[in-house]
Amino acid sequence: MTFGFLGFGKMASALIEGMLNAGCCRPDDIVVVNRHPESAVEDVEKLGIRYGTSPRAVVDQAEAIVLGTKPADSLQLLKDVRQYLDGKLLISVAAGVNIDRLQEAAGHRTRVIRAMPNTPSLIGKGATAYALGDHATVADAEIAEKVFSAVGIVYRVRESALDAVTGLSGSGPAYVFTFVEALADGGVMMGLPREVALELAVQTVFGSALMIRETGKHPAELREMVASPGGTTMAAIEILEARGLRHTIMSAVRAASERARELGRG
Ligand SMILES: NC(=O)c1ccc[n+]([C@@H]2O[C@H](COP(=O)([O-])OP(=O)(O)OC[C@H]3O[C@@H](n4cnc5c(N)ncnc54)[C@H](OP(=O)(O)O)[C@@H]3O)[C@@H](O)[C@H]2O)c1
Repeated sequence: MTFGFLGFGKMASALIEGMLNAGCCRPDDIVVVNRHPESAVEDVEKLGIRYGTSPRAVVDQAEAIVLGTKPADSLQLLKDVRQYLDGKLLISVAAGVNIDRLQEAAGHRTRVIRAMPNTPSLIGKGATAYALGDHATVADAEIAEKVFSAVGIVYRVRESALDAVTGLSGSGPAYVFTFVEALADGGVMMGLPREVALELAVQTVFGSALMIRETGKHPAELREMVASPGGTTMAAIEILEARGLRHTIMSAVRAASERARELGRG
């Protein structure tokens, strides 16, 4: 199967690299086009993939088309190639552009899938959720799974759940970056050298996340293992609870999800 990528930016190159590394397609099965070809040349050569002469040429040559442009560029680009999309699979990663709008721009005979990946996909550690449009099939879902599992984990959800996904895993990396920065700043405040504090903070978040996955234990159970009675960790947890860390994070997810819903009505 040939995959066509409309737009060859950060997310598209990450997906392509992931797909090639995972061996789920050959370089020759991928054709891309970018608004400015000159910025794509080096990576196209390095990856050994094909460059299409125009968006139309890419759509013509591919059975599955990945829309990898910014949300603001996406609908116009689809309208430009609408007549060639007939009967093809379109997978969009454009944040906040809902299936109705994609379907309207791409034509009613296009099989549409809308996906919400996140930034760690750029290093193969992404979390993606996707939803099927009315015409997309089970086989199309398998294709989407293949694409996104090449850069991390992937879940299928109803489209209405994609706003919550945006609030959790889409915006989530920013919450974690803020947490890591604060953790490191705490260490610096208590006298640690900055580089040491940042490395310790990063490794603590990394190791803890991995521990949840590898032990299969609930985070609350793992927290209890660290927090011995009358100890240092419980003293800290009292502060986190009193200052509402848990409620703050839950409210942040709610705020981002609601903002995603508002923007989606666009
Ligand atoms: N990066 C992430 O972590 C992330 C996470 C979740 C979702 N997404 C979604 O992924 C999409 C792409 O994001 P990105 O970070 O990869 O953006 P990006 O690096 O700016 O890539 C977009 C690419 O599309 C090209 N383009 C724009 N209009 C075009 C057209 N009409 N024909 C051909 N190419 C065109 C752009 O070219 P120019 O540079 O010349 O404009 C650019 O190379 C966005 O919709 C975003 O919402 C990204």
